[in-house]
Amino acid sequence: MSYSKSSFPKDYESILKASRKLNFTMISDEEVGALLRLLTSSKKEGQILELGTGTGLALAWILDGLHSKGKIISIENNPQYIEVARSFFDKESRINIVQEDAKVWIEKNKHLQFDLIFADTWAGKFTDLDQTLEMVKPGGFYIIDDLNQQVDWPEDHQEKVISLMEKLKYQLNFSALPLDFGTGIMVLCKKVA
Ligand SMILES: C[S@@+](CC[C@H](N)C(=O)[O-])C[C@H]1O[C@@H](n2cnc3c(N)ncnc32)[C@H](O)[C@@H]1O
Repeated sequence: MSYSKSSFPKDYESILKASRKLNFTMISDEEVGALLRLLTSSKKEGQILELGTGTGLALAWILDGLHSKGKIISIENNPQYIEVARSFFDKESRINIVQEDAKVWIEKNKHLQFDLIFADTWAGKFTDLDQTLEMVKPGGFYIIDDLNQQVDWPEDHQEKVISLMEKLKYQLNFSALPLDFGTGIMVLCKKVA
């Protein structure tokens, strides 16, 4: 099953092109993009956090589902990637792209609460996980991808992924769903007390 390109976010092809020009290959695929858009659409005035902006492809999907009074904060430490992402979203007041190390940002902003967190870099996923899960509102979502084994992974990466998935599956205050589509996705929803 595939998606109709006509339903893709407006800047999708241009961001892909700009990413290729930069040899940026870490872009999220359309499966996680469509899921991010769908879950974002479920939140009125949604507060969204993305860790690892890259060139902004997932951001385009999230924006496509965002309520008119919603907000997205996206964290990236590479100025070159930020420049590309900002070139697409500069006029969008609902998006705030922050140039900072994600680990440092999480530590400084751990009091904030989000309706959806897409943890797409090391911090918030393989490190600082508990802190990041604390930042999800009740009824909110935590999403990660890139969970299916790839040939170019370093030797110990598969073990790290398995251990992360086990940890996520047994979070008492979340319901977790591993999805074997795209690059392998895990979605958690924080239980409402
Ligand atoms: C998988 S890519 C993100 C892809 C993007 N979310 C998308 O959907 O296209 C991971 C990103 O995290 C960034 N990154 C790596 N280490 C980081 C850190 N310590 N703090 C912030 N960003 C970091 C990388 O530069 C890269 O752009």
